[in-house]
Amino acid sequence: MIPPGRQETLRYHRDFYAHHQLNVPGSWLHRPSPFVLRALPRLTPPAAALVVDLGAGVGRHAIPAAQAVPPDSRVLGVDLLPEAAKILGANAVAAGFGPTIRPVVADIENFGINAAADLVIACSALEHLSGRTAIERVVREWQGTTKVNGLHCLVIGVDRTEVHPGGVVRAAEVECPLSRVEVEGLLRRWYSDWDWLEHSVGGYGVAEDRDGVPYVLNAVCVRLLARRT
Ligand SMILES: C[S@@+](CC[C@H](N)C(=O)[O-])C[C@H]1O[C@@H](n2cnc3c(N)ncnc32)[C@H](O)[C@@H]1O
Repeated sequence: MIPPGRQETLRYHRDFYAHHQLNVPGSWLHRPSPFVLRALPRLTPPAAALVVDLGAGVGRHAIPAAQAVPPDSRVLGVDLLPEAAKILGANAVAAGFGPTIRPVVADIENFGINAAADLVIACSALEHLSGRTAIERVVREWQGTTKVNGLHCLVIGVDRTEVHPGGVVRAAEVECPLSRVEVEGLLRRWYSDWDWLEHSVGGYGVAEDRDGVPYVLNAVCVRLLARRT
């Protein structure tokens, strides 16, 4: 049986990608995260770089990453949803990066990065893993396959709540509900021997609907850009 958090992630993103497009105003697909964009010039890749975008969606960051790397580079955009991978492929071709960006349908919990990466992006992805043990395991694996001087750019959604009509507030359904305090502590431990280039915390609220019922998703983002020493 699919756990409720995973069911909601699948439902939400299937519906969302069917109704919203990259670079079109009116949703979070309108623009890339400025935090991720700021990471790209920090990349000092060799002739050909490997960028891995985990939970890539439809290319909000894979496409700017492809623009930032030398021509023979590869950008793997990994997403659980075949629908997202298909749209990512079409968006990559439309942006002129068809040969660079490779959509991969996989659960990042089981996706081994089997080549040395220059940049790992995980924007709103880690909170969708099945639990804390899985999150720590994959972060450690990604660290092990990242080149010295390679970068990790993480944006993690924490303290997620839903505000429903009438003001009813409840915890949002997500695979692994995380708090800011907890995540800040984990990042300090996991990345203690990495260079912290940028670290910030910010809140956001987005209007959503579930089966026609509107609600507001409020969350906090913990962001870390770190370089492997
Ligand atoms: C909030 S969206 C963010 C998409 C993209 N990173 C961005 O910032 O535009 C989260 C994405 O992660 C994908 N996802 C969720 N759980 C996943 C998992 N376990 N493995 C791979 N992708 C996953 C979803 O399908 C969705 O496309």
